[in-house]
Amino acid sequence: MITEIKKPDEESISLSAELLKNGEIVAIPTETVYGLAANALDENAVKKIFEAKGRPNDNPLIVHISDFSMLDKLCEDIPELAYTLASRFWSGPLTMVLKKRKIIPEVTSGGLNTVGVRMPDNATTLSIINKAGIPLAAPSANTSGKPSPTTAMHVFEDMNGKIPLIIDDGESRLGVESTVISFEENAVRILRPGGITPEMLSQFCKVIIDESVMNEIEKNKAISSPGMKYKHYSPRAKVFLVEGNDEDFQSFVLKKSGNNACAIIKKSAVEGIKFYSYGETDFEQAHGIFGLLRQADEDGFDEIYIHAPEKSGLALAVYNRLIRAAEFDTIVL
Ligand code: TXA
Ligand code: MG
Repeated sequence: MITEIKKPDEESISLSAELLKNGEIVAIPTETVYGLAANALDENAVKKIFEAKGRPNDNPLIVHISDFSMLDKLCEDIPELAYTLASRFWSGPLTMVLKKRKIIPEVTSGGLNTVGVRMPDNATTLSIINKAGIPLAAPSANTSGKPSPTTAMHVFEDMNGKIPLIIDDGESRLGVESTVISFEENAVRILRPGGITPEMLSQFCKVIIDESVMNEIEKNKAISSPGMKYKHYSPRAKVFLVEGNDEDFQSFVLKKSGNNACAIIKKSAVEGIKFYSYGETDFEQAHGIFGLLRQADEDGFDEIYIHAPEKSGLALAVYNRLIRAAEFDTIVL
């Protein structure tokens, strides 16, 4: 199959809508990362996503909508708090796990009786959903296990020959995926941290951070977010997450330069080892991290030492991705 890359315009939006209505998959831009989209209500179309990604079939997909009325068609028993959060944070990087209606096939929900729903904040993708008139199941558009794609070229690297069309809307604004939450009595539980921070949610209700956010899941344990148990966000190179101050980090990584290693740093340059900087603010770090993991692979390094981000705000999302990329190999200096 030939994979075309097109800029967003009326023609490419119509073409995407046609392909999606006909059961094809299309890579779409969102404000978080690029998604691999198919008609969420069409079993065969959704199966193509799992195939293209090589994704385990018990890992449920997020369903993307373009207007509020779609929510009630897909979900039932929706708590009042969900409507409140939707009106505050949609369109935007918040995914709400709710009881699904029968209209959503089991392949989409990974066999669960719930479904994650979000309204992405990207005008092109909202137009595509509107035009197609169907909700879109869309995981991140990477090969399963790899860093999520934040440019159309990243998608092309992983999906060339497997999908007909990628819509290239430039770099994803945020760079890390949406926050996934479920609902409890007057509280929400964060299953995956993302663009909507715990601090933002806590203005509306109690916020519980699921233990899987910062910890490795024991095998065979019942798990609230299936995605958290798989190897994730990993480049080919081995990743190490290093906690410590600037000075200690620098002297630590210098000792590793012989291992064909590189460093991902926050601020001051390091001499004696190849480094990439992902910036000091959580916004910069979220924006840059996935691209840098791919870049380090392209540049041929075997080991990547990353100066660990904070564990609050948007940086919590970056930290969550990086401990998984590092397979929980954290070094505390
Ligand atoms: O920002 C995003 O959320 C991106 C863009 C494309 O929208 N999508 C994305 O999808 O990150 P994906 O499939 O790569 O990650 C979805 C995560 C997985 O960890 C999955 O297990 C969890 O959400 N999830 C989805 N549905 C769920 C459900 N019903 N219950 C619990 N967790 C769910
Ligand atoms: Mg993903």
